[in-house]
Amino acid sequence: MKLLEDKILSEGEVFPGNILKVSGFLNHKVDAVFTVEMAKEAVRLFKDEKIDKILTIETSGIPFAFATAVELGVPMVFAKKHKSSNISDDVYVSSIYSFTHSTQYDVVVSKDYISKGEKILIMDDFLANGKAILGLIDIISQAEAVPVGACCAIEKGFQGGGDLLRKKGIKVESLAVIDSMDDTSITFRK
Ligand code: G4P
Repeated sequence: MKLLEDKILSEGEVFPGNILKVSGFLNHKVDAVFTVEMAKEAVRLFKDEKIDKILTIETSGIPFAFATAVELGVPMVFAKKHKSSNISDDVYVSSIYSFTHSTQYDVVVSKDYISKGEKILIMDDFLANGKAILGLIDIISQAEAVPVGACCAIEKGFQGGGDLLRKKGIKVESLAVIDSMDDTSITFRK
């Protein structure tokens, strides 16, 4: 999405450790009008799929997922992050390792909010190593629902998560895919 690439180039900053800071519109302050434009693009990319529900993960995936849910007229569920292992039987749980933060955490979704056979679109703000998406796919399989694909705003292509998921046969669409970045330039996949 050219508009997103331009926004990353004009407002993004690259930090050590391959971190792209886009807090001014995606991760802290939210550009609501622009988020709706991203949502419209997400809807276009998945126009051939039947989608019953959107699943994301707190926190920064929520605005993009919410805006897309409004466009599609479907509910949106966000998985909650849990540090403790004190988890009830009423939830689906998956354990995720974050390479960015070097931490393992559980994500949980109430069993009430995903039903067998539902077609679910996974959404997130960033796709790096793909572990968060795999965790959400795990939760969808536990619920015997169907993952129709994953849509992320920014994919850091050089970290390989998106391509790994594609090799597994998952439809992955990202609005901007970064092939390389440093503090002087950002190159997008064409
Ligand atoms: P993965 O899911 O693709 O494996 O990625 P990883 O665990 O490494 O990412 C963990 C967290 O770091 C996620 O947010 C992800 O959105 C974020 N992240 C990864 N790379 C970048 C980056 O280059 N820039 C920014 N701004 N964020 C990045 P989180 O910790 O779960 O935070 P939040 O969603 O609660 O804000």
